[in-house]
Amino acid sequence: MDHFLYRDGALYAEDVAIADIAAEVGTPFYVYSTATLTRHFRLFDEALDGMPHLVCYAMKAASNQAILKTLAGLGAGMDVVSGGEYARAIAAGVPGERIVFSGVGKTRDEMRQALIGGIRQFNVESEPEMAALNAVALELGTVAPITVRVNPDVDAKTHAKIATGKSENKFGIPIARARDVYAHAATLKGLKVIGIDVHIGSQLTELEPFRLAYEKVGELTEALRADGHEITRLDLGGGLGIPYTRSNEAPPLPTEYGALIKETLGHLGCEIEIEPGRLVAGNAGLMVTKVIYVKSGEDRQFLILDGAMNDLIRPAMYEAHHDIVPVIEPAPGTEQTPYDIVGPVCESGDTFAKGRLMPPVSEGDLVAFRSAGAYGAVMSSEYNTRPLIPEVLVHEHQFAVIRPRPTFDEMINRDTIPEWL
Ligand code: LLP
Repeated sequence: MDHFLYRDGALYAEDVAIADIAAEVGTPFYVYSTATLTRHFRLFDEALDGMPHLVCYAMKAASNQAILKTLAGLGAGMDVVSGGEYARAIAAGVPGERIVFSGVGKTRDEMRQALIGGIRQFNVESEPEMAALNAVALELGTVAPITVRVNPDVDAKTHAKIATGKSENKFGIPIARARDVYAHAATLKGLKVIGIDVHIGSQLTELEPFRLAYEKVGELTEALRADGHEITRLDLGGGLGIPYTRSNEAPPLPTEYGALIKETLGHLGCEIEIEPGRLVAGNAGLMVTKVIYVKSGEDRQFLILDGAMNDLIRPAMYEAHHDIVPVIEPAPGTEQTPYDIVGPVCESGDTFAKGRLMPPVSEGDLVAFRSAGAYGAVMSSEYNTRPLIPEVLVHEHQFAVIRPRPTFDEMINRDTIPEWL
């Protein structure tokens, strides 16, 4: 459920008309709903009621300071994967003890930054990384709390580019080697082992892969405890999928996911962490664009928008589907017409959808991409020297620009000219 609904014939974000935002900030832009962000975060938090837990929002999905502050205010922790994300979390007021550091290639500088600034735990992904973290912690005269990310060799049944839990993926250590790796970790004075971490992929639309992975984590917990390790925390990653179409898709609900966690791991008495990104932010955001031209090709109509692949890369990169709807509500019974929906960037990959059935739209009309809140703005670029598009946050009847559109001068002046030129 989200808070982008038609009202009196026009699309609204909560109590604000999308067209009013467009008139003030121009197109294209991203708009997020505070109520949807809040609702989605709470669904996870409540799904884990009765177990000690922390929901660590995977801020890679959408990391604007205003979004982070909104979630931090609800008690969210943060899952970060770079020094930049760590700095963003701290800047948004998230205390170090609510930040977990994930990622397959943490540098020594990033480790230092987090150890000095405060960290809940590092999710360590390899033995070389473990050695480096141990050395950095000793050098700083501290002890780094860690989990080890295990790779359970489970098929997440999602797009190949976002599956992470199979043995051929670069993530984690093979679960079969976990006991040896934990035994080694226990000998390192700069590290304190506190738990186990797993994350098998993103946009999972079934619970079964989670069940397989979590059962393996449960067995490993018992084996490691028998080996004498204190396993008190389980980080179960993110990955729960969202409906990208309004029609037939119905991925499992956070409540069902929470129930599965209780069923598979509840008996262990561990503190549970989860790292949802997409489900918190995905359906809490739209990308709003304007139709520049409707162009007739030989056998098709092209809808040329002012938004492009540099603003929303998901269709070009993962063949992802986003529902695209007109901002003016079509009259009931309006006949749909097929369009190839494209952006102005100079490559054919800049195509959002082919033969997409939509109510007829004309030059100048606004259209909105649904489910664009996660992995939208954060993956955008200035390709073709197109400015990063603004982000707007709505709260009931108010809205605010939370990242302005840069001017051409601002973009150009980031370049510097070497003295020989
Ligand atoms: N934790 C870890 C360690 C992760 O690698 C990820 C996502 C998450 C949590 C959050 O997963 P989520 O709940 O959002 O599924 N750009 C792609 C998605 C990449 C996901 C990467 N890792 C897309 O647009 O579909």
